[in-house]
Amino acid sequence: MCGIVGYIGSQNAVPLLMEGLFRLEYRGYDSAGIAVMTSRGNQVCRRVGRVRELEAALPRRLTGRAGIGHTRWATHGAVTQENAHPQVSEDGRISVVHNGIIDNATDLREVLIGKGETFSSETDTEVVAHLIARSSAGSLEDAVLDALGQITGTYAFAVTDADHPDRIVVARNGSPLILGVGDREMFVASDLSALVRHTTSAVHLDDGELATVTAGGFRTFSREQENTAKKPVRIDLEAQDVDLSGYRHFMRKEILEQPASAERMLRGRLDERFGTARLDGLNLSPRELRGFRRVKMLGCGSAYYVGQVGAQLIEELARMPADAEPASEFRYRNPVIEPDTLYVAVSQSGETADTAFAVREVKRKGGQVVGLVNVVGSTIARECDGGIYLHAGPEIAVASTKALTHMALGFALLALALGRVRDLSITDGQRVAAGLRALPGQIGRVLADEAAIAEVAVGLAAASSLFFIGRVRGFPVAREGAQKFKEVTYRHAEAYQASELKHGPLALIDENLPTVAIVPDDELTDRNLAAIEQIGARGGRVVLVTHPGVPHCARGSARITVPKSERELDPILLTIPVQLLAYHAARTLGLDIDKPRNLAKSVTVE
Ligand code: AGP
Repeated sequence: MCGIVGYIGSQNAVPLLMEGLFRLEYRGYDSAGIAVMTSRGNQVCRRVGRVRELEAALPRRLTGRAGIGHTRWATHGAVTQENAHPQVSEDGRISVVHNGIIDNATDLREVLIGKGETFSSETDTEVVAHLIARSSAGSLEDAVLDALGQITGTYAFAVTDADHPDRIVVARNGSPLILGVGDREMFVASDLSALVRHTTSAVHLDDGELATVTAGGFRTFSREQENTAKKPVRIDLEAQDVDLSGYRHFMRKEILEQPASAERMLRGRLDERFGTARLDGLNLSPRELRGFRRVKMLGCGSAYYVGQVGAQLIEELARMPADAEPASEFRYRNPVIEPDTLYVAVSQSGETADTAFAVREVKRKGGQVVGLVNVVGSTIARECDGGIYLHAGPEIAVASTKALTHMALGFALLALALGRVRDLSITDGQRVAAGLRALPGQIGRVLADEAAIAEVAVGLAAASSLFFIGRVRGFPVAREGAQKFKEVTYRHAEAYQASELKHGPLALIDENLPTVAIVPDDELTDRNLAAIEQIGARGGRVVLVTHPGVPHCARGSARITVPKSERELDPILLTIPVQLLAYHAARTLGLDIDKPRNLAKSVTVE
């Protein structure tokens, strides 16, 4: 969603701010803007649409040594130039970029209008610019603190003041904000990817923390004005991690990275001798792991579907009751938090607001929650009691692929660890560990069939509506297949348990509605094939995503096979073709694959 960049130093801020905005594009946005401290005061430029349109609209010879920039995802107010950020105070002195939502903005706006202020946008952020400008405090820091004292909500702010062009003041509460430390220059960003190429040293602000950023360095402090003395940490991010590196789309680059990234993720974590997993980051002793009676996964969208894969893995390997629930619904049903349940928050970005709120709900009620998170140092990673970092590397495409595979691998490791302190035998543990070890190579073999899968995708792209079906281990794969397909192709795609077809959806089957059927070689193969017969008998086309051992089926109009893995791990390999189907169908349709309409990479608002 929204993105923030900031720069202060001896270089011209404008190209650096624009580069940062280009790097933040993947998060999803509808308008963009920058504010620059120039020799003629504060200059602001905003545009609806892509960052390149903003770039084209910048005044020639715009230069300055400090500035802030923003990509906006509309929440308060329509997508207009007036509502784009930076928002500016009436006198043009204060500029503010903001991620998050100010809950009491409407009330504050009315009070300010009563005091004679005129607003030029519908945004909650403009209220903050007015509050800062009206403050009688002597410093920008105090004026920002004054404003923070009056607002409620979530935010990451960066603020500049034409009267104090030597500094940017930033504040965080509920939305990520990072400082990048350079050589006599400083950066501000909501996302590490905006800092790549410029620094490898970063400071993650905590909620309730502020910072003054100058060319010479930074000072972090609390709302009570106490120094928090934050130390920079090293960031392991290379430009090629966030560049296309010759690929046309990040989605394909990330799909093809999976053999290498999966191998890296498993390295050092599999203990084949004892058939278990080494998960020091969980901060749970074997005794504590044994104490849990139940496991609940909390995640949103695709992360929730992988949570279902995780629940099945844990039920199968550890024989513990386990289920997954959309984190977005969790706290609204006033959940009973059980002390002997292990809650697992799963998130690529680590910033998904719904999942972060679910984590807080568990913790508020005394529960124990660990995270399966990709982005190191992210909000969810830091708020959990421990966890497993996914180490998928940066994922830029809005449609998640490799991070989901890594989530499934993380769940497999967790299931092994939970299983081996219970009834999972050493031989079964070793069998699954060896299966995991083989997975990266097997993923590579699926990817080698990309051209054939792409041909099938071309056929699917012509349909306006599709079904994805599966049973038990195949069902979360079907859900993910439908999700990926609709995200990037804008086609209607719906997932059903194959067993449910005859209870209603079969009525929709005809020659215009193809079905992608996930049919592993397992105890349900025959039943799956029977469902396919029913579809074929009604003229429906079927694409089988299956294992080599599954008999050819007369009704299957296309067949994609993946290598057989250990049965518990089947969903991981079966998911790879549905990623490629979605990608190549979207490519056939000529769509903006990496930035699908209406979607954001990281959903930081409820
Ligand atoms: C996946 O392709 C989607 N973009 C989306 O469902 C995503 O998985 C969800 O928003 C959760 O994101 P997270 O993993 O960053 O928490």
